[in-house]
Amino acid sequence: MIKVKLGKSDVHVTPVTFGAWAIGGWMWGGADRDDAIDALNFSIDQGMTSIDTAPAYGFGLSEELVGEVIKGRRDKVEILTKYGLRWDTDGGGFYFDTIDNDGRPVKMHRYASKESVIAECEASLKRLGTDYIDLYQIHWPDTTTPVEETMEAVERLIEQGKVRASGVCNYDVSLAEKAAGELLLASNQVPYSMVRRDIEQDLVPWCIENEVAILAYSPLQRGLLTGKIKPDHQFGDGDTRPNMPHFKSENIALVNDFLDKLKPVAMAKNATVGQIVIAWTLAQPGITVALVGARNRQQVEENIKGMGVSLTDIETEQITEELNQLKLNI
Ligand SMILES: NC(=O)c1ccc[n+]([C@@H]2O[C@H](COP(=O)([O-])OP(=O)(O)OC[C@H]3O[C@@H](n4cnc5c(N)ncnc54)[C@H](OP(=O)(O)O)[C@@H]3O)[C@@H](O)[C@H]2O)c1
Repeated sequence: MIKVKLGKSDVHVTPVTFGAWAIGGWMWGGADRDDAIDALNFSIDQGMTSIDTAPAYGFGLSEELVGEVIKGRRDKVEILTKYGLRWDTDGGGFYFDTIDNDGRPVKMHRYASKESVIAECEASLKRLGTDYIDLYQIHWPDTTTPVEETMEAVERLIEQGKVRASGVCNYDVSLAEKAAGELLLASNQVPYSMVRRDIEQDLVPWCIENEVAILAYSPLQRGLLTGKIKPDHQFGDGDTRPNMPHFKSENIALVNDFLDKLKPVAMAKNATVGQIVIAWTLAQPGITVALVGARNRQQVEENIKGMGVSLTDIETEQITEELNQLKLNI
């Protein structure tokens, strides 16, 4: 399996990386544990060996599931996890009210003080059953802690061999510049999909110029870009997708009309529409990795094959031209 380098770091990951948020259940209406374990094992066995997780994904559950499947083969996988989103402290800045996997109300905080980052790293290493993390990323900016302090904590962890490379998530250009000024910045993980392209304006050019990898998250726009979601789709209890603007009925209909236009190219390549979406995402300038979430083996199988689908420059441009005509009510 091909691997791509994360910026100037020496960490290499698969261009499609397993997104392990949904398998934690939180904000996705729960998840089936057996399906999740099967999906992760299948992914690694098929060569998609890079996994992106976070403590917040199921309040430790996603990391624990990852820990379970990597036992005995740590050297075969790349683990990307995060810090800075805490539900178990009042430190930092309040982010939002949510419900944990047992139905209890909790308050999510953005907190990345030095002490908190060090403590979170120990907890993640324990859940993951490993002694190092390949890429350690701040989950969301913490406006209560100077970036310098957060990066100093990560630098200590790198010196101790507990972390191989430093990454950020959801950082705009000015924050990314600050982080990169403190410590080698391998990557920035940000939302990017065919229907969410705002980073193309400023962040993509900055990342290209500064050799910082972009990890595009939610490239299937949380399943919408597979074409399976119809305007009357019934989501499970606790699934937050219906609250998102992309999932308004009128937008679902517009997206599906657009996806219909991809069907001829998909058929010609013996591919699914979702695979064309992944291929288009990876073909965009500056996009290093598509972080694709999956709940089960079937989804993993389809998504992995997206790496093998290639679009010509003309096909990519034609799809982009169609996309430029698509106006969603966001
Ligand atoms: N740093 C951050 O702040 C942040 C934020 C968001 C995401 N992320 C990362 O990015 C990863 C991916 O983003 P995401 O999970 O939000 O969205 P996504 O990858 O766009 O969509 C994933 C969801 O789409 C559905 N799906 C996936 N493959 C499918 C297939 N082949 N056929 C049909 N349905 C399929 C599944 O949900 P259903 O089966 O329920 O439809 C799956 O959970 C996350 O897992 C996480 O690692 C990071």
